[in-house]
Amino acid sequence: MTFENRDFRTFEALSEVKEGVASWKAPSNIALVKYWGKSNPQLPKNPSISFTLDNCRTETKVIFKKVDKTTDFQFSIFFEGKEKPSFRPKIQTFFERIEVYVPFLKEYYLEIHSSNTFPHSSGIASSASGMSALSLCIMSIEKQLNPTISEEYFTKKASFLARLGSGSACRSVEGGLIAWGEHPFIKGSSDLYGVSLPFEVNEIFHDYQDTILLIDKGEKQVSSTVGHQLMQGHPFAEQRFKQANQHIEELSKALINGDLDTFIRIVETEALTLHSMMMTSYPYFILMKPNTLEVIHQLWDFRKQTEIPVCFTLDAGANVHILYPKNYKEKVLTFIKNNLIKYCQNEHYILDNVGQGSVFA
Ligand code: PMV
Repeated sequence: MTFENRDFRTFEALSEVKEGVASWKAPSNIALVKYWGKSNPQLPKNPSISFTLDNCRTETKVIFKKVDKTTDFQFSIFFEGKEKPSFRPKIQTFFERIEVYVPFLKEYYLEIHSSNTFPHSSGIASSASGMSALSLCIMSIEKQLNPTISEEYFTKKASFLARLGSGSACRSVEGGLIAWGEHPFIKGSSDLYGVSLPFEVNEIFHDYQDTILLIDKGEKQVSSTVGHQLMQGHPFAEQRFKQANQHIEELSKALINGDLDTFIRIVETEALTLHSMMMTSYPYFILMKPNTLEVIHQLWDFRKQTEIPVCFTLDAGANVHILYPKNYKEKVLTFIKNNLIKYCQNEHYILDNVGQGSVFA
């Protein structure tokens, strides 16, 4: 079933709930076909497909208590045990954006406790897992107020709310492979929320590995808000959006057939195109570091010599995600340890793999 904006507005509290707790663990995700460029409100200029990860997660607990309805949201935010006033503006903006869909929020005082399983400053964006976990908690409150909502509505609305917090967060609710953005090849796909791929994905992709090499753990040079804006008036934007649409269809077929050559070609093209877009926008940015390029070249040599189907992808930063089927784990990890970790900051890397999605904690 597909949902429209208006379906998520209908809200009727059937139960009286004075207080409670909602708690979720949501994973990060890594895009294979990238989302880069958006229009208001957080609608993607092209569809994207991602692997949901497993070990990189945000755990969020919301303790809620009924208060008299006021004109503003009442909440406090704790990160890893400490109150974090610096996180307030982002949460405030998020609540303002979703208010019409969850009008009950202003009737509660929310104490939000959040923590990440991945290192604090690893250069890994926590907005996807963080916004997804918070949206799921909000949906758990909605479910307590209205126990009749279906599981499908719950999941899709959680993804819908997460999208309004951070676009790619809508792909962090469910596990496996997720598509976000309308595309004729992906039945049921929507610009409003992420969906599980509506076809049987070859089993080689069920437990795909992602070893994240932390090349640069610093703050992001370009926020994704600025990054997406750079696609407005970008000289190659239209061509890029067209290419992403073609890639969705080609990648989907490769995922069905277990065609690793096509998978590798598209995933690496997407990573390099994302960075090319940043290099050819104005202002322009180079987010790769010399060590990013060292890793890529070494990986290509290794692939050529061994014929092991391992490839890389990049986010909007210098870190490298090394993607490979599980049956090559030992060989690839030996190669990474012997040849690549020297390019990582403090030799840090994270072992991850495709996961099952968010869990109620
Ligand atoms: O969700 P945002 O606004 O942080 O944008 C994410 C953009 C990329 O991570 C670069 C690509 C993607 O599809 O996840």
